[in-house]
Amino acid sequence: MGTNTLKLKVAERIEEPGNILRLRLVEASGAALPAFEAGAHLDLHLQDGSTDLWRQYSLCSDPAKSEAYEIGVLRDPKSRGGSVAVHKLAQVGTSFDVEGPRNHFPLEETAETSVLLGGGIGITPMLAMAQRLHALNRDFVLHYCTRSHGVTAFKNLIAAAPWADKVVFHFDDQPAEQRLDLARDLPKPAPGTHLYVCGPQGFMDWVINTAESAGHARANVHREYFSADVDQSGGGFEVVAKRSGVTVRVEAGNTIAKALAAAGVKIEVKCEEGVCGTCVTDVLEGIPDHRDKFLTDEEREECSMICACCSRAATPTLVLDV
Ligand code: FES
Repeated sequence: MGTNTLKLKVAERIEEPGNILRLRLVEASGAALPAFEAGAHLDLHLQDGSTDLWRQYSLCSDPAKSEAYEIGVLRDPKSRGGSVAVHKLAQVGTSFDVEGPRNHFPLEETAETSVLLGGGIGITPMLAMAQRLHALNRDFVLHYCTRSHGVTAFKNLIAAAPWADKVVFHFDDQPAEQRLDLARDLPKPAPGTHLYVCGPQGFMDWVINTAESAGHARANVHREYFSADVDQSGGGFEVVAKRSGVTVRVEAGNTIAKALAAAGVKIEVKCEEGVCGTCVTDVLEGIPDHRDKFLTDEEREECSMICACCSRAATPTLVLDV
């Protein structure tokens, strides 16, 4: 799917429980929107005073409907400002510059069984997936974990959906037997069984590690990180931007992208947490020390690409194709 640059207008703003804002976005010009696949996200450009950020939000609406896109945004005051800016700026009639839809979390649509696991705001891509799997008449179940019934967003949407009986709610504040129990709730590993997980990092790590330990193939455990804690440890190293003819030193605590930007070599960044893939850059020489959540295991092993916003070097020098 190609990338589009769009100007989207907030057509509807719905306050969901749990500090989650559901936005219905339409083309500001009234033009039709590009089609999207389940699992896709939008990049929103957020500008407000000193705030100038790009943030990624999964599409939660029905991929079969292209008259509007819907996203859900959790207001998290502890985040770096993106979600707070959305809650403030996204009033009805406001427009945003948007890139996408892009899909790094595609469905395996021919799977015999699909298990969707959403933790908190991680439910958003699962809603689009559930709608798509229902339309395809595929076997699936959606496990939705939240802290309590009272802070569970999208309850009304799910209750009205023709696939509502495929959703199993798990509330942290309810008896243990209704909480997600992976030993009980995951199916046996099989080539045709695919798992999809999205949510807070602790939830994702727990599901992914448990599923893989139980024998589910890594390639069948699909994951989408909204954000990640980046390991910034490690000393300095040298980076050569070969096409630009620039060499910089990346000191401890700095990043490749920032060190190069200070020397006039721009690598586009968006999430700055190694989850969106915007900053992926070709490596010509040297071995990266990968700190991102974006590249696949195969891509890491090839050592031919690096996320310049967060990854470091395992060799004294990295030569990049910039
Ligand atoms: S900017 Fe998102 S992965 Fe680097």
